[in-house]
Amino acid sequence: MTRLAVFGSIVTIVGALTFAGMPSSEAGDPCARKDFKTTLVKNACQQGGQKAAKDAMKAFMKDKKIKDCKQCHTQLAPTYELKADGFEQFKKAGGS
Ligand code: HEC
Repeated sequence: MTRLAVFGSIVTIVGALTFAGMPSSEAGDPCARKDFKTTLVKNACQQGGQKAAKDAMKAFMKDKKIKDCKQCHTQLAPTYELKADGFEQFKKAGGS
């Protein structure tokens, strides 16, 4: 084998591994949070990143008849900072 061929196969292997190691790349960005207070958002983030968390949050709001994300969040993408009482409100609304 020539050096070039060896190099070529290494690139192929590394490429395949990288690809296999990132099954969630299709699900979009991971969540900004690394520590979760809620199982709702934790599970959603683990399964489908920020997009799934957003969908879970929307479903939660609809269910609880909350109209505005800004009721709990001071800002939305990309960090979704919470208000001081954001988690409190989430709990009160019946979230877990
Ligand atoms: C009742 C309060 C409340 C409302 C309303 C709310 N959220 Fe949240 N949201 C939270 C809490 C609390 C967390 C943090 C969860 C945790 O720490 O486990 C959170 C986390 C998130 C996250 C995860 C962000 C990350 O990357 O870490 C996203 C995305 C999000 N909310 C989107 C939304 C969107 C979009 C809306 C409006 C459709 C919304 N939220 C409305 C309480 C709320």
